[in-house]
Parts: sequence; structure tokens; C-alpha cells
Amino acid sequence: MPLDGGPRITRLAETFFAEVTEIDISQPLDDELFEVLHQAALEHAVLAFKVQHLTDEQQVAFSKRFGPLEDDLMEPSQHVAFMSNRESDGSLRDPDSRLSKFLRSNQQWHSDSTFYQAPARYSFLSARRMPAIGGATQWADLQAAWEALPASRQAELDGLILEHDFQRSRMKEGLVFTDEERAKWPPLRHPLVRRHEETGAKCLYVGSQAETVVGWGEDAGKGLIDELRDFCAQDRFVHTHEWDEGDIVMWDNRRVNHRGRPWDEGAEVRIMHRTSGRGTGPTMENGAAVDEYERWRNAS
Ligand code: OGA
Ligand code: MN
Repeated sequence: MPLDGGPRITRLAETFFAEVTEIDISQPLDDELFEVLHQAALEHAVLAFKVQHLTDEQQVAFSKRFGPLEDDLMEPSQHVAFMSNRESDGSLRDPDSRLSKFLRSNQQWHSDSTFYQAPARYSFLSARRMPAIGGATQWADLQAAWEALPASRQAELDGLILEHDFQRSRMKEGLVFTDEERAKWPPLRHPLVRRHEETGAKCLYVGSQAETVVGWGEDAGKGLIDELRDFCAQDRFVHTHEWDEGDIVMWDNRRVNHRGRPWDEGAEVRIMHRTSGRGTGPTMENGAAVDEYERWRNAS
């Protein structure tokens, strides 16, 4: 590629992550181009598009090409999650404020929206304002991590179930939630070894929103979760993207973890806009999971 002016797709990391050039994604994708990108997303898991400078409407239109979108957690009336440390009056938000802490949990390794039984399929993140220093984003290939484990270890892990609780990951940043907030987002379960429904490949589905291993004691469970999360975060599975303003990166949450890197929040502005595509189905076939998925599907 390209043979006839189609996009150029260049792998940037050993096992995943490609940059797509010679493409303008501000324009509607025809079926042929969509299929090229869909296949590339399945193959490389993360696709970076340099300096596209999309408007929110264009970002929503591009994202929707891959399926229906999630609503923003904090502003359910909109599809775009605005992540900014700048207040409406132009000042920088206090890094110790509740919202700063909430957003800073994005700097822990995670896969998006594990608080849904059908977690996000793709996420799309665009850089609108970047600090001069810091503020990169990293992705880790959870399929490569799984495949790097010896078969004996894989056999021990396959079949384990984790309980995920995204508010606990925020509590690690010092946030406190009310009982009502805790009740609204109860912990829920996902398999540790997740089979990708489109590629069939297995991945280690574990990040900082995972709290316990079902049926294990608390310390043993936490020990395993921390060990595997760190295993997946080794350099050999990780690629770092240094943003230019206008870049947009899409990734497959079924196969990669990601995390933002710090910057001087008290001194520099960083503004990112994210859209996420709804999961196509629950990760586990239990009653509650299916109900939740039906609710989502009917609403879309
Ligand atoms: C996200 C996220 C990381 C970043 O938007 O889901 O984790 O670098 N962002 O802003
Ligand atoms: Mn995220």
C-alpha cells in the first residue's frame, strides 16, 4: 500500500501501532476506505493520523463510521469527552481539585469503560492543545503480552475472572465518592483472558480498574493484578505517541491498554477530545451483562 493513492500504513512498534498517512479523515469515508481502516485497526490495534485538525463534528462522524458511540460519562448528553485543565475563564484548574484528580486517573494503565458489561470497542483521542513538555500517551499491546507468557502460565490464568471498579482507581488519586455514587457504578466482572470477538486472539484484559480476582483473597488478587498489569507495561509491549496538535489516534480497547503521561498541569494547558464506540457485546455471558447490553443496544 498504497497502490493507487490509498492511504499509506506504516507499523511503528514491534507488534502493533501503525501511522496512517496520505489520508484526509475529515471527509466521509467511502466503503472501500473504511474497510481498509477497519482491517488496519484489527491488524495494528492502534492507528495514528497526524495533524488532521478535525472539528468535533468531523471527529464524531469519523468515529461513528466504526459503530454507535458511547455518551460521555460526565455529560451524558454528548458524545465528545472534553479533557482540559483550562477553566472556562481561561485560568488553569487547580491540580488538587476533584476534577483534576478524576482526569488524572487517565495516567494509570487502563482500557476504556470497563464499567460497562460491553466496554468500549474503539476510542478516538485528538490533541487540541499540547504542553511544550510532557503529556504524551502510551499504549501497551495486551495480545503480545499474553502471547509472551509460557503455556503453563497461560493455562493457570485462562478462565480467571476479575472484578473491575473504576471508582477505586480514582480513589487511588485521592478522590472520595458518596454512597450514592458508589451505588450507581457497582463493580462488575470481566474475564482476565479475553478473546477478541473479531480476530479470535486472546489478550490479558487487566488494568488499574481491576480490583480483585473472583474467588481469591484480596491480597493474592491484588498481587496478581499488579504483576500482570506491570508485565503488560514492559517496554517491549509499549509504544509512546508524542502528540502534535491536530493528531488523532484510534485504538482497540479489546487489545490495548493506554495511559496519559504527566505534564506541568499548574503551568501548561493540555486539551484532548475523546469519542468512544460502544462495545458490541458483553465480555461475559451472564444475565446482568446481557441485560445491560440490551439496554445499550435499544438506546442506540
Ligand atoms: C482517555 C485517556 C489519555 C491521555 O481519553 O481515555 O485515557 O493521554 N486519555 O489523555
Ligand atoms: Mn482512557
